[in-house]
This record gives sequence, C-alpha cells and structure tokens, in this order.
Amino acid sequence: MTTINVGLLGLGTVGRGVATILARQTPQLASLHLKITRAAVRTLTPKRQAQFPAIALTTDALAVVNDPDIQIIVEVMGGIDLPFALLKQALKNGKQVITANKDLIATHGQALTALAAKHHVGLNYEAAVMGGIPILRTLNTNFAGDAITGLAGIANGTSNFILTQMAAGCSYAEALAQAQAKGFAESDPTNDVEGLDAAYKLLILTRLAFDLNAKLANIHRQGITTLRRADFAAADFFGFTIKPLVSARRLDNQLDLTVAPTLVPKSHPLSGVVNEFNAIVLASTNTHELMLTGPGAGSLPTANAVIADLQATALALQDGHTPELAGLAPQPSTALDQPTRQLIALSTNGLVTGLDVATQLGIHGQIYASGDQLHLLTQAVDRQTIAQWRDALNHFVGISLQHILPIFSPDLQGTVTKFQTDEKKISFTA
Ligand SMILES: NC(=O)c1ccc[n+]([C@@H]2O[C@H](COP(=O)([O-])OP(=O)(O)OC[C@H]3O[C@@H](n4cnc5c(N)ncnc54)[C@H](OP(=O)(O)O)[C@@H]3O)[C@@H](O)[C@H]2O)c1
Repeated sequence: MTTINVGLLGLGTVGRGVATILARQTPQLASLHLKITRAAVRTLTPKRQAQFPAIALTTDALAVVNDPDIQIIVEVMGGIDLPFALLKQALKNGKQVITANKDLIATHGQALTALAAKHHVGLNYEAAVMGGIPILRTLNTNFAGDAITGLAGIANGTSNFILTQMAAGCSYAEALAQAQAKGFAESDPTNDVEGLDAAYKLLILTRLAFDLNAKLANIHRQGITTLRRADFAAADFFGFTIKPLVSARRLDNQLDLTVAPTLVPKSHPLSGVVNEFNAIVLASTNTHELMLTGPGAGSLPTANAVIADLQATALALQDGHTPELAGLAPQPSTALDQPTRQLIALSTNGLVTGLDVATQLGIHGQIYASGDQLHLLTQAVDRQTIAQWRDALNHFVGISLQHILPIFSPDLQGTVTKFQTDEKKISFTA
C-alpha cells in the first residue's frame, strides 16, 4: 500500500494535536498509511525542527501547497485571506483539502466547494464547527431520508464558560477574567462574546442542515457583554438558565437565525451543558430530536475531528473515489419572523413599577423585581413588536433598558409555546 503524504499548514494547538494522534498509529490509522511530510509555521527555529524530526518544517506555506509529493493539505493556521489563497491553489493543484477554519468556510465555503467539485477533489471541515462533536458528518450522512426542521445549540465554549460562572455568582468581568486565565478566552474576546464566532458556525450548520445559504447579515446576533448577575437571578426565578444559543428554525424556505444569550427551561437538556462544553439539538421529521454534546475546542478533541476527515479522505483515495463533498447550498434564504417570548431587563428609579411598564406597552406576562432591577417575562411576540417595545422603553422616563433576551422554545418545529402562569409569581394582564 502506498503512503499518502500530508502537508500541514500550521503546527499550533490543533496542528500539534493532529501530529500527536497520527504518531500514535492506532490499528485503524496504520491501515491508512498517512504520513505528515511537511508543515508550515510562522516562526522556525532549530529547536522547533528538532521536536518534529520526521516532518520538514518551513515558513513557506505555498511551497507545501505546491509540493507534488503531497496528496492532502490540512489547513490549521487560522485567518481568512491567506488560507483562502493557499487552499484555492491546493484545490487547483488537485489536492484533497481539510480545514478546521470556520471563519474561512463561513466566508468562502461556497467558492471553495465549487472549486473542489471542479477539480474532483474533497473539501472537508468537520473540526470547523463544534471541535470534537461530529456534527457535520452527522448532518451529511444521516439525514438522506429525513428533513431537518430546526436546530439549536451551544456553539461557543468561551461564552458558555462565562455564563456558567455568572450563573454561579460571578460578575461578567470576573467570569471573563477566569476564562482568560484558563486559556478559554483570548485577550481580545470580541469574536466570542459578541456572538460572531457562533454566527460563523451557525452559517455552516445552516448550509448543511437546510441547504440554504444564509449570510451573516441574516442572523439576529446579540452578545453576552450586557448580562448582569440580576439577569441570572430573574431567569432562575422563572425556571430558566441563560445559555449562549445559536438557533435556526425553518418554515419552507424561510429561516429564522438567531445567536443570543437565551433563557432555556431548566428541564431542557441544553440547560445542563456547562463550562466550555458545546451541544447541538437537531429536530427532524423522522428522528424527531437528536442531541450531541462534547468538547467544542481544545487540541486533541479538535484534532480528532481533523483525523476523522483524514480517514474519510484517505479511504476515498484508496478506493479511487472523490471524497464526500458538503452541499453547495444554492438556494437563497428569506427571513422568518418566529414569535418568541422575551425577558425584558430594566433598571428603575423606584417610582416606575413593572406593572406601569407592562400596562403602557401592552405586555402580558410575569414580573420579577429585585432592588432597582425589573424583569418582565412576556408573551410570544414578533421582531417588529420587540423593536417597538425597545423604542418605547428607550423613551420611558424613570427606567433604563438593559437588554431584551429571547426565551428558548423547545419545540423546534416552530410553534409558539403556550403561556403559563404560576401562582408563586406575579401575573398580570395589561
Ligand atoms: N484551538 C482550538 O481549539 C480550535 C478549535 C476549532 C477550530 N480551530 C481552528 O483551527 C485553526 C487553528 O487554530 P489553532 O488554535 O491551532 O491556532 P494556533 O495555535 O494559533 O496555530 C496556528 C499555526 O499556524 C501557523 N501560522 C500562522 N500564520 C502562518 C503563516 N503566515 N505561515 C505559516 N504558518 C503560519 C502558526 O505558526 P507559529 O506556531 O510559528 O506561530 C501556528 O503553528 C483556526 O482556524 C481555528 O479557528 C481551533
């Protein structure tokens, strides 16, 4: 059996994990005859080269891509423009391509997929979404006779870690500092805490789950930076946990795509996914509901997903087939406005009550008041109503609007949850 040569673009957290797992040569891996021959890095020193005696390190990534002896290119360097240029060249050179780069796939996935199809080579990116959770292969291979109607999940481990610490009593600043100390958050955490990283993953999930090619602008995105301890107390009082959710609901060709800190009922399994862990729930016509949970990042979990792509690619090469390709997602999506219950968080000067606000705005629901903090759990409303409320609350004398958070409706088929009252809670009808 001939050896299949692999070129790594990047030898950082994920790249080192890939090298480590391949070096273990489990029986299944040994049968694939994969060998990393070259790896591109930014900084090359003799000491670094000595750590990887079997791999020729170089700072010239293009030389790896153009190496005629390499059949598979694994991109684990990050960024968008440079890896896009390198992977286009790799595909044109007829090489199989694997990447862990969600930013690249969310931005240029369609162009790369088209190029891979044109050159009859594979493009796989299992590690790009939810690290160690095999969600893309599950979507690609297990729903041929099924139709996914909705999905919801925790796709950003940093945000989940921060919200888990806040639920335990930390402030946002304390929780972020802990995440940074543990290496879960970067020194500039913007992409994670503003929901951008999760939004990129949601775009990829949407493409594979629904064959609809949404854009970043189609996603209703809200970060976690405005959350306070009072929000967690209110959520707890109403029977919810706050989770950084991505969700996609489908009605025919319409999609409602949301990334937001969301109140999840404590009875739902997503509420029990804590710290840096990720999870996803898929709702479909035949299977009804399926949940996967696991580590969304980290060297070995992410590298494991890259190895799964390497295995699929090597098997396809051995069989002489083109490795499976993710869909081209040709259809444009239009926006679905899914009515959803909301939690409105306000500060008050003490003269304005929750009932005053509810009466003025026509809100039906429940109030939680604590000190100068007011929380209103509302009926299900569409986005136009939320925008009207937001405008009215911003002009309401005596209160200040903190934020409005959605409530997760576990029915991913998209029907509106019935509103319930609890006699322990203050109920009202405006
Ligand atoms: N880390 C995770 O848990 C995780 C999870 C899922 C997906 N991913 C994705 O995987 C990719 C890699 O992440 P990572 O955490 O492994 O990143 P990382 O630790 O920063 O490693 C990046 C590697 O790429 C090399 N590199 C960067 N620019 C280069 C250039 N211009 N030329 C040659 N080499 C270059 C770096 O070289 P030096 O070592 O010399 O700096 C380094 O070895 C990213 O797209 C990320 O989003 C990561």
